[in-house]
Amino acid sequence: MKILLLGSGGREHALALKLTSSNTTVELFVAPGSDAISECGTCLPFEIDSHGLFEWVSTSRPDLVVVGPEAPLVNGIADQFAGLGIPVFGHPATTSKLEGSKSFAKDFMLRHAIPCAISKTISNITEGESTIRNWQLGYPIVLKADGLAAGKGVVLAQTESEALETLKSFLDGQHGDASRVVVLEEPLFGMELSLHVFVDVNNEHAMFCMLPPCQDHKRIFEGDTGQNTGGMGAFGPIPFLRPKDIDRLQVDLVEPTIAGMQKDGLEGRGVLFMGVMWTQAGPKLLEYNVRFGDPETQVLMQLLDEDLPDLLYTIATHSLQRNKVNVLPNTAICTVLAAQGYPSSPQKGATITIKSPKCLIIHAGTAKKGTGWTVNGGRVINLVAIGNDLEQVRRMVNSDLDSHQIEWPGMQVRRDIGLKALQHAKANLTIENQW
Ligand code: AMP
Ligand code: GLY
Repeated sequence: MKILLLGSGGREHALALKLTSSNTTVELFVAPGSDAISECGTCLPFEIDSHGLFEWVSTSRPDLVVVGPEAPLVNGIADQFAGLGIPVFGHPATTSKLEGSKSFAKDFMLRHAIPCAISKTISNITEGESTIRNWQLGYPIVLKADGLAAGKGVVLAQTESEALETLKSFLDGQHGDASRVVVLEEPLFGMELSLHVFVDVNNEHAMFCMLPPCQDHKRIFEGDTGQNTGGMGAFGPIPFLRPKDIDRLQVDLVEPTIAGMQKDGLEGRGVLFMGVMWTQAGPKLLEYNVRFGDPETQVLMQLLDEDLPDLLYTIATHSLQRNKVNVLPNTAICTVLAAQGYPSSPQKGATITIKSPKCLIIHAGTAKKGTGWTVNGGRVINLVAIGNDLEQVRRMVNSDLDSHQIEWPGMQVRRDIGLKALQHAKANLTIENQW
């Protein structure tokens, strides 16, 4: 199967490794890819939205295109390639608005009675200021830029004046057109989790397969402190989630989403990643993403016991006929090694020392130099392990870190990925017990 994968980060390296380790013989092309990804396939010298890539797809006619990041989906790349008659694992632009516009997503959630935070959409400063001054929904006030803002579009304002300032700079175009509309939202408290669902929805059928919920660690420092990042580590499954909790996620969030998509004529042929807050009142939906999470994908690709090319092709061609994917009865973890200065000003160029780590290495932001590697991004390398349980995989990662198997000057790493969940499980607590 000739596959074109779009993207260049850790998520795409994890996908490239999985796509090329299957029973299906795969000829993999990646655009733009990375030095590490070029060890799995041929990297094409095209940016994702370029005319050159469109030409390449028109003439080379891959059997399947797999889209990694959200921006091209929101811009309609899946529609373009599907228009050439090529199967695409990635949603059309109409559906990708679920990630590309927070107000569109909120309207969708309300229309289909999907539990979520109370919110109000604002596009006018006077109305926004008066909403903030009369705010009755508790602090922090959550302000969200409507459009894609590279993970920087959500601010939790602790005071009225911070909320007013943020609103003003958003509406003034801090994130360009993406923040000229702002969603003001009630704060939700609880435990956050990442739920990935394969979806195949058109007007004839509506099928979905849930993957094991994972947990990401968004803050830069241990103990969930410091600035927000793209994600410093993830693990899955979550040891204290019971089958009835998974059922509740399915019934409360996934089923109404799938039914709503079909009802609204939103075609689905890809993955939906739901950001969930499990509150005292049960699970509530924070957001939809129309792509795989990063670093969640690095975890999920270890657990998924499927021929990935075949599965993604089945979804891309609307032929999914089942509601379960096979998953290994194991736990996987991904710990991110990040550059000095990440997330505000990552320093590139440091030489990475790699000895003989026992964990799998997935590259996120590296460049090849001679026979070695240098730092070439904010999130640089993922240390990934799969084992019997969370305790074991945490030990595997920490043993590589303790013995300095991989490092560079200024490297940042959180040693507590999965620690809180492990302690929670050991204390026989459930999702209903807050931490
Ligand atoms: P989002 O891009 O909507 O997922 O927001 C990014 C992060 O902001 C989420 O992962 C949450 O940690 C946090 N967040 C978003 N919405 C809320 C909310 N209503 N209450 C509390 N935290 C939130
Ligand atoms: N790990 C969160 C995300 O991919 O958005």
